[in-house]
Amino acid sequence: MADDPYYRRDLALVHHLGFGFHADACAPGILALLEPVRTRGGVVVELGCGSGLLTRHLVDAGHHVIATDASPAMLALARQTAPDAHSVLQVVLPDDPIPDADAIVGVGHVLNYLPDEASVDRALVDIAGALHPGGVLAIDLCDLHWGEARRDAAGAGRMGDGWAIVTEFSVPRRDRFVRQIATFLRNADGSWRRDDERHDNVLIDTARVPGLLAEHGVEATVDASFGSERLPAGLYAIKGRRAA
Ligand SMILES: C[S@@+](CC[C@H](N)C(=O)[O-])C[C@H]1O[C@@H](n2cnc3c(N)ncnc32)[C@H](O)[C@@H]1O
Repeated sequence: MADDPYYRRDLALVHHLGFGFHADACAPGILALLEPVRTRGGVVVELGCGSGLLTRHLVDAGHHVIATDASPAMLALARQTAPDAHSVLQVVLPDDPIPDADAIVGVGHVLNYLPDEASVDRALVDIAGALHPGGVLAIDLCDLHWGEARRDAAGAGRMGDGWAIVTEFSVPRRDRFVRQIATFLRNADGSWRRDDERHDNVLIDTARVPGLLAEHGVEATVDASFGSERLPAGLYAIKGRRAA
């Protein structure tokens, strides 16, 4: 497990317990975009499903969901959170094939975890290729503005029942956003254990995305939100559709 670059056991659990607000905020807008897919009984593939926080909304709304993520710890939580998902699979972008789908969704800037812009482009091309005619795309993506808005950001800490997290941010380059994260979880004997992860995100010019997707048959826009939620500064909703 130590070889997993992101979201090992402890951070996966802390994310699950304390960071559901983003999936909850995005869910209504994404469900509205997916309504035509639901009425025709289409397959929704979720990328970077994490612990299943958005998956649960999709399944509860009646969608047929294939939930995917790179992190085994996240996938284990997703199987508990959304037991009625059609399947919960490991898909590591950009190398693993994406299952064919009537909709592809993902929140929590999953593609920004890829090593560089070329990898993000490869993943976007693969996403376009996996969408059936009439298929819908809804993913969020951090732009270069994400780093600009946080260049001087202070660190942040939060605590809940039996967990805590401390995060330092840095913007070493215009196209990089780094989080140095320490998690603390209370052990059964009352002591605390610590684990550390470094998250190295690539930031891209999202204005390029519609052109790239159009070359692969998907008309897309870069929007401020999926619906009526307010996304954090520099995080954009990529909404697209492959012609029927
Ligand atoms: C910020 S979390 C968001 C999780 C979930 N979507 C949510 O909103 O709660 C980012 C997710 O991307 C996943 N991820 C990171 N790199 C990935 C990759 N190369 N392929 C697939 N998933 C990846 C992580 O394991 C993690 O679950």
